[in-house]
Amino acid sequence: MTSPTLPGAPFVAYRHDALHLENLSLQALAKAHGTPLFVYSKAAMLSALAAYQRAFQGRQAKVHYAMKANSSLGVLQVFAQAGCGFDIVSGGELARVLAAGGQAKDVIFSGVGKRRAEMKTALQAGIACFNVESEAELDVLNEVALACGKVAPISIRVNPNVDPKTHPYISTGLKGNKFGVAHERTLQAYQHAASLPGLKVVGIDFHIGSQITTSEPYMDALDKMLDLVEQIEAAGIPIHHLDFGGGLGIDYNGDTPPAADALWTQLLARLDERGFGQRQLMIEPGRSLVGNAGVCLTEVQFIKPGEQKNFCIVDAAMNDLPRPAMYQAFHQIVPLHPRTGHPTVYDVVGPVCESGDWIGRDRALDVQAGDLLAVLSAGAYCMSMASNYNTRGRPAEVLVDGDAAHVIRQRESVQDQMRGEQLLS
Ligand code: LLP
Repeated sequence: MTSPTLPGAPFVAYRHDALHLENLSLQALAKAHGTPLFVYSKAAMLSALAAYQRAFQGRQAKVHYAMKANSSLGVLQVFAQAGCGFDIVSGGELARVLAAGGQAKDVIFSGVGKRRAEMKTALQAGIACFNVESEAELDVLNEVALACGKVAPISIRVNPNVDPKTHPYISTGLKGNKFGVAHERTLQAYQHAASLPGLKVVGIDFHIGSQITTSEPYMDALDKMLDLVEQIEAAGIPIHHLDFGGGLGIDYNGDTPPAADALWTQLLARLDERGFGQRQLMIEPGRSLVGNAGVCLTEVQFIKPGEQKNFCIVDAAMNDLPRPAMYQAFHQIVPLHPRTGHPTVYDVVGPVCESGDWIGRDRALDVQAGDLLAVLSAGAYCMSMASNYNTRGRPAEVLVDGDAAHVIRQRESVQDQMRGEQLLS
């Protein structure tokens, strides 16, 4: 069986009827490390990154990997070694960057609710930029910077009121969202920032949403950003860098987002046209770098036929793969070794005690208890959003690099989960 259309191809592909990631049989990895198991391809990550790098050749541009998508140390290490910076949203994420060999000077710090202690740590570490999301945050950051004798480099995240046409939970650039400073207040906010001695304006920042599958929202946002930069600079405040955030979608189920290099060729042409092509550019992609570089392997526990529904009960659940339960997200589910019989339609569900604990609905599968399945497109926002609900240890993670498989995270034990808890004295 050949399936060139699988999300993640050519890194995820059937060879001799066995699903492989790069050169390794996923069945062998599941046997060696147990299930549920996340497996990532280093080559797939680097190939996704290369698409951005191709478009940026000859430009001053830096990719800051939005590590919330997958913040495992081994994954961060791959991107740090490839020369990426990081977009972080917490002090915890900064600590992870440093632990993975990244450098604070390559870090930008986003998020609507940064705490003073996090600001202080980031200032002392010497990060590249704070993406400030409100006028109140400007004042607090100024205070914190002055108190520790630093000047905080900032950009203001602008909410451009552009519809990215994605799931409501992951669209961020609309007026009703909590993110960024309202488009109409941007100039005032920059003037305020420029008047504060603890801040230095270095850039402007947009991020309009996630899993965006057309280029129009980016083109609309770009024009809005450039209009603003012209206004702000006319008011005497230079803007050194332009940060376009992340958001580019991936193929989960026949989705056809533009390729990163095609999108950026288009955006760069517009930047050139408007005279901004030689500015320092930054982007914050997450999902498009890792989403299709990972799969989650799971074992069928029981087949449970029913009057209205047949259930295929697997050992992965909403705590490991929260996207279907949270966003009704679709992930392809495929057998590691396809059978040749007739498929039955199943809801693929986990063991967690919630009706919302499903991984896929109405899937035609030819499976038996003990079979192994792969949930595809599981590299982004799966492990990083995993929880311990139902006292389930989070899965192990393996990073494949050609013929080698590196365990980058051990399976979480019950002891790991109870660490730090105490009985009443
Ligand atoms: N920059 C900022 C400021 C962000 O908030 C995000 C994502 C990114 C960059 C990266 O966006 P990406 O390139 O990954 O689309 N859990 C949801 C997605 C939440 C996205 C949050 N922000 C999901 O599983 O679909």
